[in-house]
Amino acid sequence: MTFEVGMRQLGGEAIYLGAQEIQLGVREPVPDVARNLGRWVDAIAARTFRHATVEELARHAGVPVINALSDREHPCQALADFFTLWERGQELDKFRLAWIGDGNNVCHSLLLLAGLVGAEIVCACPAGYEPDPGVAARARELGARVEVIPDPREAATGADALYTDVWISMGQEAEQETRRRAFRGYQVNEDLLAFARVGAVVMHCLPAHRGEEISEETLDGPHSVVFDQAENRLHVQKALLLTLLDRTAP
Ligand code: NVA
Repeated sequence: MTFEVGMRQLGGEAIYLGAQEIQLGVREPVPDVARNLGRWVDAIAARTFRHATVEELARHAGVPVINALSDREHPCQALADFFTLWERGQELDKFRLAWIGDGNNVCHSLLLLAGLVGAEIVCACPAGYEPDPGVAARARELGARVEVIPDPREAATGADALYTDVWISMGQEAEQETRRRAFRGYQVNEDLLAFARVGAVVMHCLPAHRGEEISEETLDGPHSVVFDQAENRLHVQKALLLTLLDRTAP
C-alpha cells in the first residue's frame, strides 16, 4: 500500500503482483523473473518471505530492488522508525532504544540502522530468540552500541524508546504455542514503561497483537508513536525511491 501510494504521489505508477500471480521460483526461476522485470520497470519493491530471494532478485534485476520485508530484515521500517525519532527532535547518536521480545527481522534492521546513526540498542530477548549474532556484530562494526540481555526491565531502564513486535512473525505459525510460552513476561505495558525515561516513546511496527506483546493501554496510550511510524513508511519510501532513481521530488 505505502509503495503504491508513494509512487502515485511522486507522479509515477506502481503495478502490484501478488504471490499467486508471480509465483516466484515456481512458475519461473527467480533470476529470470528479475531479468524480465528489470527490462520493464524502473525499480522493484519486493516482499518475499525468504531473504535469499530478495537478494537473488537484486543480483539479476539490473534496477534497484528494495526489500519491502523479508524474514531476515525490514529496512524500510527501520528507516521510518529512525526518521520518526529524528522528526521528534531526538539526537540519534545519544538515543537508547530498548527492543523487547523477538530478535527478528525488524530488530535486525533497527540494529543495522542504529549502526549508521550511532544509536544504542539494548535487546531483551528470551534464550534462543536473540538477534542473529552476525547482524549484531555488523551493527557494532557500523557504530551501534549493542547489548543483548534476557531481562526486559534492565533493558527498559533509562531507555528513550521501548520497541516491540509480534511474537509470531509470518511463516512461524507452526511455533505459536512454544513462542507464546517463551515470550511470556516480555510484554510492553505500563509496568515496563515505568522503568524507561520520563517522556520515552513506545514503538511497534504493526500489525500488533494487543494483549500479547503489548498491552492495549500502552499501544493506544500517550507515549505511543506507532501511527507516526506507519505514516513515515510512506514518506521515507518516497525518499528512498527518489534517491535510488536519482530523481528529485515533483
Ligand atoms: N516481524 C513481523 C513484522 C511485520 C511488519 C513479521 O515478519 O511478520
